[in-house]
Amino acid sequence: MAQINPSILSADFARLAEEARRVGGADGADWLHVDVMDNHFVPNLTLGAPVVESLRAATDIPLDCHLMIEEPDRWAPAYVEAGAGSVTFHAEAAAAPVRLAREIRAKGARASMALKPATPIEPYEDLLPELDMLLVMTVEPGFGGQAFLDIMLPKIRRTRQLIDKHGLELWLQVDGGVSAATIERCSEAGADVFVAGSAVYGAEDPAEAVRALRRQAER
Ligand code: DX5
Ligand code: ZN
Repeated sequence: MAQINPSILSADFARLAEEARRVGGADGADWLHVDVMDNHFVPNLTLGAPVVESLRAATDIPLDCHLMIEEPDRWAPAYVEAGAGSVTFHAEAAAAPVRLAREIRAKGARASMALKPATPIEPYEDLLPELDMLLVMTVEPGFGGQAFLDIMLPKIRRTRQLIDKHGLELWLQVDGGVSAATIERCSEAGADVFVAGSAVYGAEDPAEAVRALRRQAER
């Protein structure tokens, strides 16, 4: 089943708990996607573990933390402790990705690794069994509201083939420019977890936008 994870990057940061509730409910968002940026790995700054901890206490939706930060080996465990159900670090930033994925899992969260658009999946094939999710970025990380990069579709397809070849259960997430206009292409290419920021929070009814995206992804 397709999962829709609204990104709070496009929400009102002064009202995060309320913004989380706007996409929740019975057939609402599967996870809330929390974009953590440090002004170094990407040219933008958002929030850290204390805000994740407060958000955890304020909502029932599990938190999918996407760490766009340097030194994830050092900082990622704090996000599990803050209550994240899934923690994604970037392949380009991790010094020891296998050790880090094992640490995240040992602490009780799902371990996930993200690839920037220019990072190929092939060098990481042997690492896939260590992960619960692989994130293929479909924009350059850093900002919401960017145009979907169609040239990432072959990478999504190849990643799906590798996952299936090894008989793995891991989820394949796409993030960046996912909308009513692009979600079917992502789903057809093999993605099953869809992050959507502006397409959800830019809609008049964000909860309905989540349901509509899920229907489209499952078509
Ligand atoms: C971008 C972030 C995304 C962003 C997606 O660096 O990782 O999660 O919020 O926003 P949209 O869906 O608007 O492209
Ligand atoms: Zn993200």
